Amino acid sequence: MEWFPLADRVGAEVRGVDLATVAGAALDDLKALVWDKGVAVLRDQTLTPEDHIALANRWGGIDINNYFPLEGEHPEIAIVGKTPEQTTNIGGGWHTDHSYDQVPAMGSILVARTLPPKGGDTLFIHMGEAYDSLDDGTKAEIEGLSAFHTADHIYSPDGVYAQTDQGATLRGQDLKTGAVHPLVVRHPRTGRRLLYVNPSFTLNTVGRSRADSLPLLQRLWAHAMREELQGRVEWRDGTVAIWDNRTTWHYAMNDYHGHAREMHRITLTGEALAA
Ligand code: OGA
Ligand code: MN
Repeated sequence: MEWFPLADRVGAEVRGVDLATVAGAALDDLKALVWDKGVAVLRDQTLTPEDHIALANRWGGIDINNYFPLEGEHPEIAIVGKTPEQTTNIGGGWHTDHSYDQVPAMGSILVARTLPPKGGDTLFIHMGEAYDSLDDGTKAEIEGLSAFHTADHIYSPDGVYAQTDQGATLRGQDLKTGAVHPLVVRHPRTGRRLLYVNPSFTLNTVGRSRADSLPLLQRLWAHAMREELQGRVEWRDGTVAIWDNRTTWHYAMNDYHGHAREMHRITLTGEALAA
């Protein structure tokens, strides 16, 4: 396996790995790279849906997403899609997947199936770099704090997506979610400290109302969103991205109106997070 930086502070472009067959020590190397750099981009892959599922099982298991439409014959695969007629996309705000779960998913394996002629990139931020670059006063201020995460305001019948043209295809609108995680978690595998709050699913710090929490949360989010921490995945046919939800945030650009984009996502099982 060879790899090159995707951007200065996040991500890796990987060469010399065939995801349809990777296993053993080569898979361990790829996992370690994803945990460390946050996202690995692999080109010219030829994963069938069965290969995609087998890779996720070799990686460590699958969390089925409760909200996105499932790929007909393969319920392990969620469809992240936008038709030429739709104006709203999935994931078009900074977030990390499944932080509203008590045991949040480790990450995702996203396979490009239909791409627009241009646009539709995915942006990533490294949350270890975001944490490290906080000033000492802010690090002291957030030490020991926890935050509440939920997806209910996003997916419920009166939630964010229900008001849009993505609403009709989503499932799970009656589910109730909620989890408390430290603001700063230690990566379960690398031990690195990571800022673990995100603008999509984190509502408040524990012990404070939403209104009282927002000044601090918005300050942390604005800090993390700085351009120098970002990397950009430009998709091509055959591109697969594997990301770590603890190490990164991501953002799906919605700049290809009138064109279809369809991605197949398998969500990888994670572990409980601690400070
Ligand atoms: C996701 C997601 C990004 C994209 O699948 O969780 O946010 O670019 N996708 O489709
Ligand atoms: Mn996502």
